[in-house]
Amino acid sequence: MKAVVYTRYGPPDVLRLTDVQTPVPKDDEVLVQVHAVSLNATDWEVLRGKPLYSRIMGPFRPRHHILGSDIAGRVEAAGRNATRFGPGQDVFADIFSYMGGFAEYVCVPETALAPKPGGMTYEEAAALPQAGAIALQGIQDKGQVQPGQKVLINGAGGGSGMYAIQLAKLNGAEVTGVDNAEKLEFMRSLGADHVIDYTRDDFTRNGRTYDLILDLAAHRPAFAYKGSLMPGGRYLYVGGSVATLLQVLLIGPVIGRAEGKKIRLLAVRQGAQHLAPIVDLCQAGKLATVIDRRYRLNEVPEALRYLGEGHAKGKVVVIPE
Ligand SMILES: NC(=O)c1ccc[n+]([C@@H]2O[C@H](COP(=O)([O-])OP(=O)(O)OC[C@H]3O[C@@H](n4cnc5c(N)ncnc54)[C@H](OP(=O)(O)O)[C@@H]3O)[C@@H](O)[C@H]2O)c1
Repeated sequence: MKAVVYTRYGPPDVLRLTDVQTPVPKDDEVLVQVHAVSLNATDWEVLRGKPLYSRIMGPFRPRHHILGSDIAGRVEAAGRNATRFGPGQDVFADIFSYMGGFAEYVCVPETALAPKPGGMTYEEAAALPQAGAIALQGIQDKGQVQPGQKVLINGAGGGSGMYAIQLAKLNGAEVTGVDNAEKLEFMRSLGADHVIDYTRDDFTRNGRTYDLILDLAAHRPAFAYKGSLMPGGRYLYVGGSVATLLQVLLIGPVIGRAEGKKIRLLAVRQGAQHLAPIVDLCQAGKLATVIDRRYRLNEVPEALRYLGEGHAKGKVVVIPE
């Protein structure tokens, strides 16, 4: 089968489209023919080995040689003990712990799979797992957004932000989206009431305060967020610099405690099987999936560069066949 392979951290040029052995499912796995795989910031991070936390599975060389984690496709074969899914079934999954989606076929433990939701295309299903989980848990489960609240989403023009803006609006919030100038109109089109170009304005210095800050691109000292939270407000770190992450973990719990402010890490629970509420909203037509661009397998380096250089508005999808 064809796959996009790399053996050392680096820019997209280290990726090669090559022929590799089609994997054979272990007892608890199924073999999936990949019909669509969506890109996430995590692919870009694990490609380059930056930030440092992306090397957790392989400090010097990548542990997995084929990237790609959010897949949708059709089961081709099942291992001896895999009984929930059989050949011909359409499925989707977040396989971040295993990777391998930038290929024609991938073996997946069947516990990581969920049936592809009815009425959704492969592309839409592949767009959902990681970005949908971040939005669902950041806005609803941990963010607990209530009608009338003020929500700021930093890095809102990418994949997770696309769902997070819409979900916050559905929950009745007043939403501010922050991203680069290229994405301001896109964030408005998703429902953002206010938009900020982070290359011109620093939202932590404009005097405005929020009930929830969902930070998909955290690069400030943890203390900087305290002044932008209302009393009782919460800040959730999703992704960004290691320095900010360490500060959030070490001193976040004490910053602003007297005013009931919470500064915390959102450790996202992964897995397509946790996505039922957001799948329902997509199927009901209340939540839109915007696919910015589609690429072929041989164009994965270009696709990752497009995402990594910050041009993607919504999701970028690779169609292997
Ligand atoms: N906590 C967890 O358990 C967990 C799990 C999975 C993923 N993650 C993290 O979740 C994050 C979000 O992923 P995603 O897929 O939504 O990424 P994405 O599609 O790349 O979107 C991130 C957006 O942030 C923007 N951005 C970059 N620097 C910024 C800044 N300083 N201020 C404001 N916006 C900025 C980017 O645009 P430009 O680059 O053009 O400016 C981009 O539009 C990633 O960092 C990933 O590592 C966390």
